[in-house]
Amino acid sequence: MKILVTGGAGYIGSHTCLDLLQNGHETVVVDNLCNASRESLKRVEELSGKSIRFYEADLRDAAALDQIFAKERPEAVIHFAGLKSVPESVAKPLLYYDNNINGTLQLFQCMQKYGVYRFVFSSSATVYGAPKTVPIQEDFPLSVTNPYGRTKLMIEDMLRDLAVADPKFDIVLLRYFNPIGADISGRIGEDPNGIPNNLVPYITQVIVGKREYVRVYGNDYPTPDGTGVRDYIHVTDLAQGHTKAIEYMQQHHGLHVFNLGTGIGYSVLDVIHAFEQVIGREIPYRTMERRPGDIATCYADPSLAEKEMGWKARFGIAEMCADAYRWQSMNPDGYGA
Ligand code: NAD
Ligand code: UD1
Repeated sequence: MKILVTGGAGYIGSHTCLDLLQNGHETVVVDNLCNASRESLKRVEELSGKSIRFYEADLRDAAALDQIFAKERPEAVIHFAGLKSVPESVAKPLLYYDNNINGTLQLFQCMQKYGVYRFVFSSSATVYGAPKTVPIQEDFPLSVTNPYGRTKLMIEDMLRDLAVADPKFDIVLLRYFNPIGADISGRIGEDPNGIPNNLVPYITQVIVGKREYVRVYGNDYPTPDGTGVRDYIHVTDLAQGHTKAIEYMQQHHGLHVFNLGTGIGYSVLDVIHAFEQVIGREIPYRTMERRPGDIATCYADPSLAEKEMGWKARFGIAEMCADAYRWQSMNPDGYGA
């Protein structure tokens, strides 16, 4: 199938393009490169031996998007493009509403105009807020606490409305838990701007000596070792979930929601120790105050995705850490090297 991938040059998008190409699909990428490099897709082309048509464009540029749809006539859209930093969204909410909401609206309008009715959306476990119990199932109540999360929930709501108004739309909402790791080649991976917000890129930068020590945010949570527990999922498994979703939509109509996680929770200290196993030495860390907005424990019940789409995460924490470390050590300055 010919698939338009918005934000395809980014972290999850580039891994998904690789998986799509390896499974015989054709990919067209639209990305404004605000948080990505053209280099990622060149490497995906090398790894897959296939070519990607790339358009450097902003989704909010209606004329540019219209031209791309007119020329490419995609059969489905996977929508990654968006800004994703929680603290930045708190500081600049209008930027997040403009980029994430307006960009998505332009996309829907083009899809309707050109009769493209298959859509896969990058949602997040953040839409579950602070869950009352774990593991989290797809029908748990939804709530959000910051503008980034609100853009995800608003887009989910728009899609639910669209599915009711226009039954021609087939929609899969994928709620990601915590994507980490990198392609096993070490050629593509996560390349955060500046100081990483997320735990794993921070740890890998400590390992290669770019940062002094890991800051562990809080050791007094109601968890086995007091540090926050999350469901880390290998980005390659996550990428495969998108290919499965595209295939699923060919047989199943309407709107479907799936958690993409492993179903296993690891604490911050578990993750640090898993990296220590990979590198064979201790990683310096210091315990700090809790980070505002963090919850104690979050992990998925991923069984619906397995039952419906036949998708299940294959990689464990050791492989996630080994692959994240390989990417960081082969590319100490990310794609900028
Ligand atoms: P990323 O920043 O690496 O990728 C997003 C891509 O979108 C970037 O390449 C960026 O240049 C592009 N982009 C942003 N705004 C755009 C616009 N207006 N027009 C065109 N391109 C634009 O992020 P990622 O980690 O790959 O995340 C992909 C998606 O998954 C995002 O929507 C994110 O919110 C969602 N998500 C990510 C995580 C995570 O932990 N990484 C978790 C849950 C959900
Ligand atoms: C964060 C976002 C979430 C987003 C996800 C992926 C918040 C509140 N949530 O999730 O919306 O979808 O990233 O981009 O920002 N930690 C440390 N030290 C660090 C960094 C993190 O101890 O330097 C801890 C955190 O307290 C948490 C765990 O590590 O317990 C994971 O944190 P992180 O990688 O930032 O992901 P989330 O907070 O789960």
